Amino acid sequence: MSSHNVWTHKGTFLLAAVGSAVGLGNLWRFPYLTGENGGGAFILIYALTIFAVGIPILIAETMLGRSSRQSPIMGMRHLTKTHGSSRAWESIGWLGAASAFLILSFYSVIAGWAIHYTWQMLTGSLIGADAGTIGAGFDALLASPALLTLYHTLFIIASGLIVGLGIHKGIESGLRIIMPALFIILLVVLGYSVVHGDIGAAASFLFTFNIADLSLEGWLQAMGQSFFTLSLGMGAIMAYGAYMASDASLTRTAFAIAFVDTAVAMVAGLAIFALVFGAGLETGQGPGLMFVTLPLAFAEMPFGALVGGVFFILVLGAAISSSISLIEPVAAFLVERFDMTRPQAVMLMVIASWAMGLLTVISFNIYAEGTIFHTLFGRSAFDFIELLTNIFMPLGGLMIALFAGWSLTHAEVMKEMHTTETWFSVWRFLVRFIAPAAVAFVFLRSIPHVEG
Ligand code: PHE
Ligand code: NA
Repeated sequence: MSSHNVWTHKGTFLLAAVGSAVGLGNLWRFPYLTGENGGGAFILIYALTIFAVGIPILIAETMLGRSSRQSPIMGMRHLTKTHGSSRAWESIGWLGAASAFLILSFYSVIAGWAIHYTWQMLTGSLIGADAGTIGAGFDALLASPALLTLYHTLFIIASGLIVGLGIHKGIESGLRIIMPALFIILLVVLGYSVVHGDIGAAASFLFTFNIADLSLEGWLQAMGQSFFTLSLGMGAIMAYGAYMASDASLTRTAFAIAFVDTAVAMVAGLAIFALVFGAGLETGQGPGLMFVTLPLAFAEMPFGALVGGVFFILVLGAAISSSISLIEPVAAFLVERFDMTRPQAVMLMVIASWAMGLLTVISFNIYAEGTIFHTLFGRSAFDFIELLTNIFMPLGGLMIALFAGWSLTHAEVMKEMHTTETWFSVWRFLVRFIAPAAVAFVFLRSIPHVEG
């Protein structure tokens, strides 16, 4: 057993997990994927997956982390050994490391856009700008591989430094301010968009659905997004769970994380789409959605430069607390397994992800739609990496559900869950049957139809 210490505060796991969960997935990815997939039907599948699949797996993943008290890969090795189960389960850890590496590669590039907009806001360059100007500014950003690489580099170095120096503790106290502040400023933006945008159109776009409208790849994206947004199925939650106090409630914590994460996504979605419909912008414009709609609101609202600047700084705070949770499990594994020092392990992970991120950088310019690479491969590298994560995370979650559901004994689960027999049975039914069936159903439906 390694010598992980337990977080002193009961609430610290919750805070760290919320820090991991709430990020670009809520503010950037959720609205853009919803817009590309036509709204309500996407949200329905997303929400169903969160509650019927996500929460039970969230409990399972925390449980595996807490009962092994090691990094995901070593933890799974330990658990399979003590259970005499097949070593094949260790692939949960490996698959998770692959997901973390892929996600960090593009996450850092997108977070870089937020650095750009923080700067744009604080210098007041967008005050009074109209939709055309803001759109053109965004296009110019994407057209510059050099600028995108610069921001990507800054963000990934900052994340690496935090994990490498082991200063999560400092981040934790920061999160106590960043998370509520982010939520409040989102409500301010929502308030503005209720008055100046078209909230009615936004609500009907988001909450009315015709399930037949959702493409088969849309099903995969909706399920992938619900894992992505909860940081699920790749080891981040397992790694944090390893530090969770033994007497904290797994169930209550999982519900709290899912609730906060969903609330942030919904408020961001409502605000963004109210602005989109109010200004006659396109819902399906893709990854730029948040970055061309929110600055439009900040361009016009009183004290917009300041509010916008603070907003993007908070976005960066939320993004960094997520990116450190991507680095942490991989770094912890490299330290435990290969006897690396922490800085070496972090450096390795960060450099590899950074290099991979260059593929995302060029996906918006020299490898964008219409270029020869794109025509050759049928989708951009960024699209391809996102597709892989939409498969890897649910696959990791599926294995976590099966392992926790079938390999752990009643006594072991109860030791972690301390709950009633009824809830235990419900949970076990969900992880044994419902979650795996749901993931398999979406995979079987959609993957054969993913077009090149
Ligand atoms: N959940 C984070 C977000 O929504 C992204 C993330 C995924 C973080 C997986 C860690 C692990 O932004
Ligand atoms: Na999230």
